[in-house]
Amino acid sequence: MTQFNLILLGPPGAGKGTQAGRIVAGYGIPHISTGDILRAAVKNQTPMGLEAKKFMDAGDLVPDSVVIGIVEDRLREPDTAKGFLMDGFPRTIPQAEALDKALEGLGRAVTKVIVLLVDEELLIARLTGRRICRSCQTPFHVLFTPPKTEGVCDACGGELYQRDDDTETTVRNRLEVYGRQTEPLIDYYDKAGVVARIDGAQLPDVTYKDIRAALGPADA
Ligand code: AP5
Ligand code: MG
Repeated sequence: MTQFNLILLGPPGAGKGTQAGRIVAGYGIPHISTGDILRAAVKNQTPMGLEAKKFMDAGDLVPDSVVIGIVEDRLREPDTAKGFLMDGFPRTIPQAEALDKALEGLGRAVTKVIVLLVDEELLIARLTGRRICRSCQTPFHVLFTPPKTEGVCDACGGELYQRDDDTETTVRNRLEVYGRQTEPLIDYYDKAGVVARIDGAQLPDVTYKDIRAALGPADA
């Protein structure tokens, strides 16, 4: 059985969440989004959520120790045995090293890193017009990928909302943080020979076709 131990890497707004929905449906693997897990903790006002909120609202990274703990716990769940799709993790070299170590302990390794490439001006337009489903987290865009009914999720009928960190000032900081702390991971994974660079500025289904070509067929 082919293992799909996948990472989706790319700046805020590159379409990680948008493509994640397609990839997990196509390959039957769980979607592990540290951003979604942290936002759920903020909503539930857990101690971790209360600590994370101040970093997220500023567009800064939550401390490595917090997110590494989240991912280590998640990888212990049995549904990850056949593979997984990491979305928004790792974001720093220490996070990437911790993931490698955790997988090594399981006799596994990252099999592909999909890097979504999109120009900065388009990223800002995407994020400032984004709306997300409160129930299933599917992202929409008021102009680019509008829902069939305004304010209502096409996938599950949930209510759409705007993320607190999608203001222009916070978006600019998130992009700066990505360039400084996360982009160096492309080099890190290039050394392991597992990177696939994909044009993320195309229509979502066209980008997904390119991702499928890079990943190869899902097991029957
Ligand atoms: P996170 O939730 O991971 O956010 P992000 O990386 O900033 O990325 P986004 O979710 O904003 O963008 P996306 O690439 O998913 O784009 P989407 O598909 O929605 O992290 C948030 C915060 O949590 C961080 O700032 C940090 O504080 C914390 N955090 C999370 N993980 C962490 C970690 N590992 N370490 C430390 N801190 C961490 O698309 C965007 C918009 O564009 C949508 O409106 C969509 O409809 C539209 N769109 C997408 N694709 C297309 C297309 N092809 N054509 C037209 N429109 C499109
Ligand atoms: Mg996302």
